[in-house]
Amino acid sequence: MAHADLDRLRTISGVKWTRYGPDVLPAWVADMDFDPASEIKDAMKALIDSGDLGYNPDVTDPLIPTWLDWNERNHGWRPPAEECFSLTGTLHGLEIALLHHTEPGDGVVVFSPIYQPFRKGIETNGRRVVDVQLAGPDWRMDPDQFEAALDPGTKAVILCQPHNPLGRVFSAEELKGLADVCERHDLLILNDEIWADVVHEPNQHLSIGKAAPEALHRTVTLAAASKTFNLAGMRCAVAHVGSSAVRPAFANFPAHQMGSPSTIGSLATITAFTQATEWLAEVKRQLLTNMDTIARRVADDMPGVEFHRPEATYLAWLDFSNTKIADDPFNHILTNAGVALDQGSKFGEQATSCARLNFATSDKILNMILDRVAGCLS
Ligand SMILES: Cc1ncc(COP(=O)(O)O)c(C=O)c1O
Repeated sequence: MAHADLDRLRTISGVKWTRYGPDVLPAWVADMDFDPASEIKDAMKALIDSGDLGYNPDVTDPLIPTWLDWNERNHGWRPPAEECFSLTGTLHGLEIALLHHTEPGDGVVVFSPIYQPFRKGIETNGRRVVDVQLAGPDWRMDPDQFEAALDPGTKAVILCQPHNPLGRVFSAEELKGLADVCERHDLLILNDEIWADVVHEPNQHLSIGKAAPEALHRTVTLAAASKTFNLAGMRCAVAHVGSSAVRPAFANFPAHQMGSPSTIGSLATITAFTQATEWLAEVKRQLLTNMDTIARRVADDMPGVEFHRPEATYLAWLDFSNTKIADDPFNHILTNAGVALDQGSKFGEQATSCARLNFATSDKILNMILDRVAGCLS
């Protein structure tokens, strides 16, 4: 069973366990509580012990081919290597593409509620958020609703597949519908697949590269090992830039201005994709158990709370609308129960009664979190 040790977690300096102080149980930012795979830690330790910390193309060059092998093996899709680039993070790639392809004032579609940095990236760069609400309980992407939201100044759409925070894996039909609308309106698709490898059986990740390959010429796909293998601080990601209009931004941008992942981040990512699959299988078993626990505890101990089992991610989207803390569940739970969830309103203005719970933790810590949340509702 995947292990998360409370004593160890209380000593680490990462933001998840330090932001809210020692009495709070954190279930917010998307880091896991599990110790990373020993294969990854051993590879990193060996590099450090050898003092081999200079420029090292032997370590960094295999990054793209290793990701392509992984993607082909797991997701049945292999784009050409010469269209791929390495980056320090998925948001890094997304914003390079956004800045290159759009002008200040242009509209960029997001499907809300949505991972908040997308909205921030659009707004801080002077672009305009075009908000399309996904409606529960099934949160399907409706092409007609999407198309109706567009105006002539809309130039791009951010697709988050699988979706954070809703945990949806969009179907082939939904992706094809999206691709058709993008074709009709000449929209760039910024396709964030950072969660592609945390999909729960019987669901399967479906890349737009597989479901709608005809849309690849207008797509930039971002991927990483960071969410899947608990490596977010290692700063390493990859991009497939299918759009030939956007590719020059990645290919010709001065290398030092563009930045690149570190040797150690690349090594961690490569080791994850080649050696840590058993670790991942064990973690995914734990996540399935944790979803059962949440479903049971919500049904038994949290009257009025709504939870829909996510198809992907380790994020549970909880709706507190029919409870006494509906006005601001995040702050009620933080103040009265000592649990830091992620605040619904960050994901969209219609989500103030919701909160996101990161359940990538042990049985013990998850039950402590759920005990505290349940106590706050009675
Ligand atoms: C959907 C999504 N995209 C991007 C990121 C951040 O990725 P990075 O650190 O590679 O920029 C996250 C982090 O949780 C995420 O959930």
